[in-house]
Amino acid sequence: MADIFEPYALDGAISLKNRFVMAPMTRTRTSDGDVPNRLMACYYGQRASAGLIVTEVANIAPSSKGYAMMPGIYTEAQRQGWRLVTDEVHRNRGTIFLQLMHVGRMAHPSLLPNGQAPLGVTEQRAENSDVFAHDADGKLGFIRAGTPRRLETEEISALVGTFSEAFCGAREAGFDGVEIHGANGYLIDQFMNSALNTRTDRYGGGRPEDRTRFLMEIVDAAVRKLGPGRVGVRLSPFGRFNSMPADPLVEETLLYVCEQLGRRGVAYVHLVYQLMPEGNMDSAEFKDRHIDHALLARVRAMFPGAIIWCGGFSGRKSAQAALDTGLVDLIAIGRPYIANPDLVERFKHGWPLAEADPATYYTRNGEVGYTDFPAYSAAGLANATG
Ligand SMILES: Cc1cc2nc3c(=O)[nH]c(=O)nc-3n(C[C@H](O)[C@H](O)[C@H](O)COP(=O)(O)O)c2cc1C
Repeated sequence: MADIFEPYALDGAISLKNRFVMAPMTRTRTSDGDVPNRLMACYYGQRASAGLIVTEVANIAPSSKGYAMMPGIYTEAQRQGWRLVTDEVHRNRGTIFLQLMHVGRMAHPSLLPNGQAPLGVTEQRAENSDVFAHDADGKLGFIRAGTPRRLETEEISALVGTFSEAFCGAREAGFDGVEIHGANGYLIDQFMNSALNTRTDRYGGGRPEDRTRFLMEIVDAAVRKLGPGRVGVRLSPFGRFNSMPADPLVEETLLYVCEQLGRRGVAYVHLVYQLMPEGNMDSAEFKDRHIDHALLARVRAMFPGAIIWCGGFSGRKSAQAALDTGLVDLIAIGRPYIANPDLVERFKHGWPLAEADPATYYTRNGEVGYTDFPAYSAAGLANATG
């Protein structure tokens, strides 16, 4: 069986030094203009012992913004800011992919150019979900997502072009690859959901090839710009975050997508197995249906690339046990990475884990709860020896 601390060759193109992935996590520490900065470079550099870092999600355009203070990749200043991040991670011998998305209906006019309506697969609003935006008094906070405007067919092709530019931006900024965010109820996921996507053009309807056309066109663009070994896709089948309706065709769609991604040779599929039990990702409806081993085995049969599994892994044992099933190749870890920059070393040596304060997840408090967690070997051992 594979050892989680052993290197892994991602599609033969990129060698990862171990099988841990730092999961993408939005932390809202950008500078004005949604520009990544030195503080962010320090944060990611501290965590470079992960086999692979997937960044917090970045916007492909001003119209894709659903949360204030998220980074973008569409201006020169943003690309230069990201260059600080990639240089620092590479200086620490890490590997880093940029996660990219369009939020679709998960937005609010106060964040969008000219106060325009969010862009939707249909006019169906995410009725029970919030975005981080400006209220009527201009104050930032969590408020209900706005009512979307249904995208015209030609606009969808244009968005594929915008993704394509973002892939070039990622290359320019020095990333080793990109992860396309097809999970968690954002635009790509909205297209794939058969209950939500009631469109009648070539991007909608009952056939999986139509509902997944948007994703596949984006993947094709990414493969053209970066090569297949530098492209991953994140998926959250069964996820109900962001008011996603239950989808009776979810398994059929998942298997179709994996088969198509396999044909395109993409490096990995990143499956979000279990969303957060507390906080902003509601998993109440998630209990009955999830990705079990039987479904994973079917995914495995469809997809020859790497499979990343994410959600709820908090220790070396559970991560290794997941690898030992032989159904997945890499284990992604989110929240434990916040307070443990040296998570891999802590797992390896059996050192205790530090706890983060969720109140600092999305603040503008700079380094507090962000880059101020020391590595155990620097702090813990010094304390232990007195
Ligand atoms: C603070 C925070 C921010 C997150 N931001 C993103 C994001 O930008 N993109 C994404 O795909 N998932 C995001 N997630 C979800 C995580 O990637 C992961 O799927 C989730 O935390 C479950 O993994 P865990 O149990 O190891 O924390 C975020 C989670 C947290 C806690």
